[in-house]
Amino acid sequence: MTQVGGAAPPQVAMAAPGLEGVAVAETTIGDVRGEEGFFHYRGYNAAELARRLSFEQVWHLLSEGFLPDAGQVAAFRQRTSAMRSLPEQVARLLPELAAGEPFVPLTALRTAVSLTAGVLGLQPVMDISAEEVRQQGLVMTALAPVLVTGLYRAHRGEPLVVPDPDLGYAAAYLQMLTGRRPDPLQARAVEKYLILTMDHGFNASTFTARVITSTGADMGAALVGAIGALSGPLHGGAPSRALQTLDEIGTEERAYDYLRQKVESGDRLMGFGHRVYKTDDPRSTLLREVALELGGEQARFAEHVEQTALRVLGELKPGRRLYTNVEFYAGVVMNTAGIPREMFTPTFASSRTVGWTAAICEQAAHNRLIRPSAVYVGPTPPVPLPEGSRYA
Ligand SMILES: CC(C)(COP(=O)(O)OP(=O)(O)OC[C@H]1O[C@@H](n2cnc3c(N)ncnc32)[C@H](O)[C@@H]1OP(=O)(O)O)[C@@H](O)C(=O)NCCC(=O)NCCS
Repeated sequence: MTQVGGAAPPQVAMAAPGLEGVAVAETTIGDVRGEEGFFHYRGYNAAELARRLSFEQVWHLLSEGFLPDAGQVAAFRQRTSAMRSLPEQVARLLPELAAGEPFVPLTALRTAVSLTAGVLGLQPVMDISAEEVRQQGLVMTALAPVLVTGLYRAHRGEPLVVPDPDLGYAAAYLQMLTGRRPDPLQARAVEKYLILTMDHGFNASTFTARVITSTGADMGAALVGAIGALSGPLHGGAPSRALQTLDEIGTEERAYDYLRQKVESGDRLMGFGHRVYKTDDPRSTLLREVALELGGEQARFAEHVEQTALRVLGELKPGRRLYTNVEFYAGVVMNTAGIPREMFTPTFASSRTVGWTAAICEQAAHNRLIRPSAVYVGPTPPVPLPEGSRYA
């Protein structure tokens, strides 16, 4: 008989807390180079893609694996805009999902994505072909903005808006949200934000989607898990908090004392710091540019607060290499483009669906169940049951 108990045999290597510095897969989707302040999608500089190309071109790159030519992108735009129609059963239930106070859009989205996947009959990825998984990825990505905006409008008792068919993803998103055909400059600003946030290496929500996919579950399950991971403020929940900080500061003169007091009391400044970037986050660099291009008092104020925050962090957290992250200017850009605050993270969820579905396809195609171990540090087993224990 095998002897059990005592200290655990050292069979597994202990990874760093938070899995920092541990690679858990190979991928051809993209990568983040934190020390260089660079990230890419399939080898292309992602900030350059956002600066120069459309949402559909980059979506095509991530989902189909290559940059489309003019004809291919036109066909892709037509194909994916035709996927924007919600199943009747889902459209009917949106008001129920969006009812109730407080309305937490990401919570409603989680439920709506689960419902949509069920109504569409998405099968376990283990039981379908790679091509079917990819096709489902396109459908779920096309439907994400419809669900996000539909839930917002349903909560306000407003009807769903069918966007003009000639509009690309970003402009259609704004029209579905506000009911108005958007200003092209604002639509382009939001498009850049959406491209910049499609994917970002092995972030927590992408990893979650991969773990769920690795069990062979359906794409809906993986997307719901990813949305859950994104909902945490340490991941996707910061842009509205960053804007809240700007509101609380109010005037330039108050910035230094306010920020210093926050850090001294142990709080984190929202929109600063990153697990991977130890230099300027290229997303924040481009979004600062976009925010200033859009103009307005808030962008200029944000720039002042950013400079002050970096000074405060330099003084109080020397050597930690804390820089502005994507969330700081994301809030300013979205706010200026007319996206309500509670919709910031859901907007992020919408564009990140591109990356999640690409990761799900890759995981499904080269699958091995993700099943790590933990080092048990409790009382030495086997612990004897207390005297007189009995079934109750
Ligand atoms: C993003 C984040 C979770 C990364 O954290 P991490 O890699 O786990 O960093 P750590 O928690 O190890 O922090 C290292 C040090 O920097 C400090 N720090 C990190 N981010 C900070 C911030 N935003 N404000 C103040 N201090 C911060 C920590 O307090 C810690 O200081 P210490 O050594 O004195 O304890 C973190 O920077 C953060 O909470 N940022 C604010 C939330 C945010 O903007 N999220 C959006 C991310 S895109």
